[in-house]
Amino acid sequence: MDWTKRENLELLLMATCFAMQEAGYETTTTTMSFCLYYLAMYPDYQAKVREEVEQAMEDKAVSRVEDLDLDSITGGLPYMEMFINETLRLHPPIISNFRSCTKPYKIPDTDIVIDPGVEIHIPTQIIHLVRMNN
Ligand code: HEM
Repeated sequence: MDWTKRENLELLLMATCFAMQEAGYETTTTTMSFCLYYLAMYPDYQAKVREEVEQAMEDKAVSRVEDLDLDSITGGLPYMEMFINETLRLHPPIISNFRSCTKPYKIPDTDIVIDPGVEIHIPTQIIHLVRMNN
């Protein structure tokens, strides 16, 4: 594809906007909805999240939560991050990942060989929920 051609560039821009809208909208709204649900259901955790945010605001000397800069939010709120990660573990918005096999692959310690062209479904949600014994 020649990306210097105007019509191709427009196609690329449109496809990117569509992908961002589709991939970014439902995933984040679902995650936020479940986070809010768990904050409401577990007031003790809500209090800890709130405390951490208030501490970050005090450290950064800001009076409004929206004035916290990106550094304070990424990596600066470990409890909040754990809260979101646990919500994502319980309710991954995308429950499976998909891959197409491109070359023969033998699963170690088994006789199973996956042939090229076979679609693999990786069940994210099951992996998140299964109890490992080792
Ligand atoms: C909690 C929020 C999100 C979750 C749980 C999530 C989850 C995922 C997952 C599981 C994949 C597939 C990965 C794979 O199969 O390799 C993916 C791909 C993607 N996500 Fe997200 N996502 C989230 C937010 C976003 C946002 C906000 C955007 C954009 C603004 C976005 C854009 C994309 C794009 C463009 C891809 C495709 C990447 C590729 O083709 O390699 N996602 N996401």
